Amino acid sequence: MKRHTIFCLIAVAVIFNAGNVYGQGDAQCVNSKCHADMGTKKYVHGPVGAKVCTVCHVPTPDKDHEFTFFAAKEELCLGCHETSRDMMLQEHVHSPVSDGNCTGCHDPHQSDFQYTLKGKAADLCYNCHKTDKFSKEFVHGPVGGGDCNVCHNPHASQNINQLEKAPEELCLSCHVEMTETMGKRHVHPPVKEKCTNCHDPHSNAAQYMLDTNRPQVCFGCHENLAVNPEVEHPPVASGDCSACHNVHATDYPRMLLEPLNELCFTCHEELGELVDNSTHKHGPVQDGDCNACHNPHGSENYRLLKKYFPHDFYMAYNTENYAMCFECHNKDVALDEKTSTLTDFRDGEINLHYLHVNKEVKGRSCKACHQSHATDQEKHIRKSVPYGSVNWDLPVAFTKLEDGGSCVVGCHAPKEYHRK
Ligand code: HEC
Ligand code: HEC
Ligand code: HEC
Ligand code: HEC
Ligand code: HEC
Ligand code: HEC
Ligand code: HEC
Ligand code: HEC
Ligand code: HEC
Ligand code: HEC
Ligand code: HEC
Ligand code: HEC
Ligand code: HEC
Repeated sequence: MKRHTIFCLIAVAVIFNAGNVYGQGDAQCVNSKCHADMGTKKYVHGPVGAKVCTVCHVPTPDKDHEFTFFAAKEELCLGCHETSRDMMLQEHVHSPVSDGNCTGCHDPHQSDFQYTLKGKAADLCYNCHKTDKFSKEFVHGPVGGGDCNVCHNPHASQNINQLEKAPEELCLSCHVEMTETMGKRHVHPPVKEKCTNCHDPHSNAAQYMLDTNRPQVCFGCHENLAVNPEVEHPPVASGDCSACHNVHATDYPRMLLEPLNELCFTCHEELGELVDNSTHKHGPVQDGDCNACHNPHGSENYRLLKKYFPHDFYMAYNTENYAMCFECHNKDVALDEKTSTLTDFRDGEINLHYLHVNKEVKGRSCKACHQSHATDQEKHIRKSVPYGSVNWDLPVAFTKLEDGGSCVVGCHAPKEYHRK
């Protein structure tokens, strides 16, 4: 209803009341003996300020000082505040509003608070809502400031919980720096869905209004990661997920902080230098795919490997021992004593892989000759082998020949092999 119409109505009411039992209009209701404090507070409702009481309290004819309202509770306020009717048409209407209980929040006469509210800021809400949800250990900035209405419309809105903005826009409207994060290429699915999957908008037991501290908050959804592996990776075991992931989003797959191999090299610097400075990088290492062989979270295998690979240097032969390598390579390289097809590491038909690896006792592991990451020699032959408990660096010099190779090693006299 337009302001002037409201005043017209009050004017009409004043005139209408001029001849009633109280004599000179509603002013009679308020005097030093009766309703003396009416109109004395900081904020006075329009018609009360005009000392027009009977526009709402209609005197019952022939009864002394008995009143009814000019309309039912649900219609009383809307009778003048025509525009407030719009709130009822919204998708989500606050329960006291839809019940017509406007006076649950507004005093019809006066109050010390603007809009003649029955409390200031959050205290108004706490008249009906229990405070426990809003007073846990870590309280959200605007809630601590008592500013519920910055997020909720007290009457109604088009959004669930009478939110002022759609849930997916609400948080970013203040946390503008997160808009950039949300534009990154790999966004954590629950973050994309809604922030309140992890953060309570009001208050919560752990920092950042989370349910629990990290990494437990992650395990809440990623249960399988909570299982203790046999071989642990220290940054994971200590629960420091953020050493590698940003929980919200990054430009790299799995929300890693950096491209995979660069990430690993930030801690494994020595290996990073080895790889950078070597002329021959093993296929997956060349591709930066450390995860082709390692499980960064922990594993049941030595060195966090995805498949079994022996810790020891010597052991009885069993194809299963080299399951890690045979993920990608022919698992029969060392199977037959004689071959002209299984491997190029042969002298004539004598399979030199078989000779070194396939033994009842003291078969050599692949790592006796090959480097899994990178080296300067052909065929990923390592430059040296740590030998014995003193870790003597036994040199390995390999030269590729047209139909074979030559090895100068500490294990035996220099030898050559020729396939033809
Ligand atoms: C806008 C409508 C409206 C006007 C104008 C109005 N009242 Fe009220 N009044 C109400 C409502 C509604 C209640 C019931 C209060 C409740 O439910 O909380 C009420 C209740 C009362 C009560 C009962 C006790 C109380 O405070 O709850 C008294 C007394 C009263 N009014 C006096 C007056 C006087 C005197 C005036 C004029 C100065 C006046 N009212 C003007 C709406 C109005
Ligand atoms: C008889 C007409 C009338 C009735 C009935 C009435 N109001 Fe008002 N109300 C007014 C007038 C006039 C004003 C002052 C003009 C203005 O500020 O818009 C006003 C102002 C207000 C304001 C302050 C608005 C502002 O922008 O500052 C609130 C809040 C309010 N009324 C709530 C209520 C509630 C709640 C009820 C029901 C209990 C109610 N009104 C019933 C006439 C009425
Ligand atoms: C849950 C508490 C609550 C209830 C119930 C409630 N209001 Fe309000 N109302 C408020 C608050 C808080 C404000 C101040 C809004 C702001 O700060 O933006 C307000 C402001 C207003 C205003 C003035 C500002 C505006 O939005 O035009 C009017 C008029 C008003 N209310 C009318 C009503 C009417 C009519 C009803 C019942 C249909 C009602 N209110 C029920 C809390 C309430
Ligand atoms: C007069 C009592 C009363 C006051 C004051 C009040 N509320 Fe409510 N509110 C209710 C009732 C009743 C419900 C519905 C039952 C429930 O969910 O608890 C409700 C529900 C809500 C809901 C959930 C709505 C939904 O869709 O489930 C929100 C959000 C809310 N209130 C916010 C507020 C805020 C913010 C304030 C302060 C500005 C406030 N309330 C003040 C009575 C009140
Ligand atoms: C930063 C924005 C924000 C502020 C500030 C805020 N809320 Fe909320 N509130 C929300 C969101 C978002 C939801 C929906 C929660 C969900 O989806 O799990 C909600 C839900 C609610 C609900 C209904 C669901 C429930 O948890 O029971 C009530 C009641 C409520 N808020 C009351 C309040 C009160 C009271 C205040 C002030 C003390 C307040 N809110 C301040 C954002 C906010
Ligand atoms: C009205 C603005 C506003 C809205 C909307 C808002 N926040 Fe906040 N938020 C703040 C303020 C202010 C702080 C406190 C600032 C600070 O401590 O750096 C804060 C702090 C936080 C913090 C803790 C930051 C820290 O460094 O401790 C988190 C987490 C957070 N908000 C999440 C959310 C989520 C989730 C939503 C949506 C449900 C949301 N916020 C909506 C204003 C807002
Ligand atoms: C999967 C759970 C999860 C979701 C969903 C989530 N967050 Fe977070 N958020 C966290 C965790 C955990 C932290 C603690 C900081 C850390 O680990 O880096 C955090 C920290 C924050 C912080 C404070 C520190 C900082 O990085 O600035 C803000 C602000 C924040 N989140 C806002 C949001 C917003 C906005 C959304 C929705 C777009 C959201 N969060 C969704 C888990 C989540
Ligand atoms: C509310 C549930 C929830 C919480 C809490 C949660 N996540 Fe997730 N996360 C998911 C869902 C759902 C996916 C997508 C399905 C999947 O890969 O399991 C996902 C996927 C991921 C991915 C892979 C993303 C990709 O690109 O495939 C990473 C990494 C991740 N989460 C890390 C974390 C970390 C770290 C935390 C704790 C800070 C965490 N998550 C907490 C639900 C959650
Ligand atoms: C040392 C770095 C590192 C740490 C610390 C780390 N992660 Fe990861 N995480 C990775 C890498 C690398 C991937 C990608 C694995 C892949 O693509 O195979 C990954 C993938 C994930 C995924 C996707 C699903 C999966 O299992 O591949 C989830 C979920 C995940 N991490 C959660 C966590 C949680 C929770 C923590 C903390 C307990 C954590 N991560 C700690 C490096 C790490
Ligand atoms: C935040 C630092 C950090 C990051 C990032 C990191 N690591 Fe580690 N990693 C360690 C520490 C500390 C150890 C234990 C000491 C050591 O062996 O250097 C370790 C040990 C290892 C081990 C040997 C485990 C054992 O018990 O034998 C492997 C394999 C490994 N990391 C692989 C990786 C891979 C692959 C990545 C990248 C996905 C990576 N690391 C990223 C800190 C890190
Ligand atoms: C082809 C499989 C494979 C790939 C790909 C791979 N590794 Fe390894 N890694 C191994 C094997 C096998 C060992 C154990 C070597 C041993 O027993 O001496 C190992 C050992 C390690 C170790 C323990 C210390 C050391 O140097 O022996 C770290 C750290 C490590 N790798 C990190 C990485 C990183 C970082 C990447 C990616 C750049 C990566 N690995 C890629 C197979 C691989
Ligand atoms: C994830 C797949 C993968 C795994 C696992 C793997 N490799 Fe490789 N390997 C490759 C690819 C791809 C090449 C070819 C590119 C190159 O020369 O690095 C290759 C090449 C080689 C070569 C050189 C072959 C040639 O003809 O030049 C040797 C030797 C080798 N790998 C040994 C090993 C050993 C030993 C293991 C186990 C510790 C292993 N690889 C595990 C993928 C793998
Ligand atoms: C005694 C040293 C030695 C050992 C132990 C060894 N290799 Fe080799 N391997 C070589 C040499 C030398 C070549 C190069 C053959 C050529 O191209 O002339 C080679 C070549 C390869 C090739 C390339 C394809 C082929 O067969 O020619 C693969 C794959 C390979 N080795 C895997 C392995 C695996 C897996 C193990 C462990 C089961 C292993 N090697 C153990 C010395 C060794």
